[in-house]
Amino acid sequence: MSNSTRVTVITGDGIGPEIMGASLSLADAAGARLDWELAEAGAVAVAKGEKSGVPRETLDSIERTGLVLKGPLATPIGSGAKSANVTLRKMFETFANIRPVRELPGVASPFAGRGIDLVVVRENVEDLYAGIEHMQTPDVAQCLKLVSRLGCQRIARTALELAVSEGRERVTVATKANIMKFTEGMMQREFEQAARNYPQLRTDHMLIDNCAHQLVMAPEQFDIIVTTNMNGDIISDLASGLVGGLGFAPSANLGERVAIFEAVHGTAPDIAGKDLANPTAMILATVMLLHHDGQSPAAERLEQALFAALEEGAATHDMGGTLGTREFAAAIGERIGRTSSTASRPKGQLKLPSLTEADLRSEPGSRGKAGVDVFIESHDTPENIAERLAAATIGTPYQLSMISNRGTVVWPSRGPRPSCVDHYRCRFLIADRRSWHADSVLGLLERVGRDYRWMHVEKLDIVNGEPAFTVAQGE
Ligand code: NAI
Repeated sequence: MSNSTRVTVITGDGIGPEIMGASLSLADAAGARLDWELAEAGAVAVAKGEKSGVPRETLDSIERTGLVLKGPLATPIGSGAKSANVTLRKMFETFANIRPVRELPGVASPFAGRGIDLVVVRENVEDLYAGIEHMQTPDVAQCLKLVSRLGCQRIARTALELAVSEGRERVTVATKANIMKFTEGMMQREFEQAARNYPQLRTDHMLIDNCAHQLVMAPEQFDIIVTTNMNGDIISDLASGLVGGLGFAPSANLGERVAIFEAVHGTAPDIAGKDLANPTAMILATVMLLHHDGQSPAAERLEQALFAALEEGAATHDMGGTLGTREFAAAIGERIGRTSSTASRPKGQLKLPSLTEADLRSEPGSRGKAGVDVFIESHDTPENIAERLAAATIGTPYQLSMISNRGTVVWPSRGPRPSCVDHYRCRFLIADRRSWHADSVLGLLERVGRDYRWMHVEKLDIVNGEPAFTVAQGE
């Protein structure tokens, strides 16, 4: 087995052993040169007292192999144990989630016959999913949406490289840059900058809401869609629904050192151990792993056998058929070496971007201070708050310029007032910018704190003469 690639195999929980068993034996039958290294994670590991869901030996195995085929893992609810999936994603920083969505022969869907064949490339570690949340007041929660140039550049370039490696023509970046100009806008800008190096590709920007609409109206138009974490989470599931659902959706989680391949669906506890599971998504994840490892001939043999079985009506119960997992796998096994009438997409080697410091480190530029936003908790009226805060600024370099509630200006009043919650942003601008110093913020906070509980402060920077903060609605 000297010319085989070692792969860490995490069988998974629920239906994991059934679908993984089918995938491994079919990969072997298709001529894959893979050397499976079995490792535990998920419920089995938690039951043995491993709170992270991923034991040390499994992490060591992944460090060694860099390549993982993973069954679904149950996320324990309320036991204090962590999600093994999240542990793996964070520990190995698999920043790119690749979700191919392709119409499969014999799989019923309202879109059958449209020729859907697209890939959603989702940034996988940043955005709202960084999990930085704070209760601001008893009634108001906040989640920080952090988006970085590093995150945007590497996912943008991954999507562009994927297009090249798969011979695709169009890459669409989907964002909400019209509303979130800095965060979602950064994804659009970084993508557009990266796309300049790929003149052979057709690249465009689409607002994510329109993208969702277009995915349902004319999904066949898309080749590759690249997007931020939460957008990608939602539209990739939507896209899977177009071609038969999660039971047919594989995915890859790619990082610099580690690539993890898996089915998108979960452990299906309702059918576990009953020989009812559909192994298609897991088999397609194995096909992706084989391509990734440069074993495209074996990948295509496996995929063609699957397509041939589907074309000839092989179907598990979830597809309206009668075959059990084992019979379905056997139907595929019998067809290894056959060519179906659905061609496999030719795939080259995907080159993950290597970014240098110079790619990512912006010039610090000239920086100045315009003032500070202080967030306070209050059930007072905006007028009363304004009166007290204006008094608090006397003798400081600050002036109260506006108060907003959930992003809309409520003082100075301009027309109808939105319903206010107990969370106000109070913007203090500095009259003479040269007079700003850090102690002045502390002095201001001390004065504000005499009347109100403050919980959050943002300095208002001016970078290269441009405000590094947005204005409120109606400001
Ligand atoms: P699920 O995907 O396991 O099941 C949803 C429904 O789809 C069920 O009716 C199930 O029987 C069916 N289904 C799923 N895969 C199937 C297959 N291959 N063949 C036939 N039917 C299939 O989602 P659910 O119930 O929300 O989650 C169950 C567990 O799985 C939870 O602990 C969850 O945290 C975990 N999970 C793990 C994932 C992963 O490891 N990547 C992803 C999603 C959920």
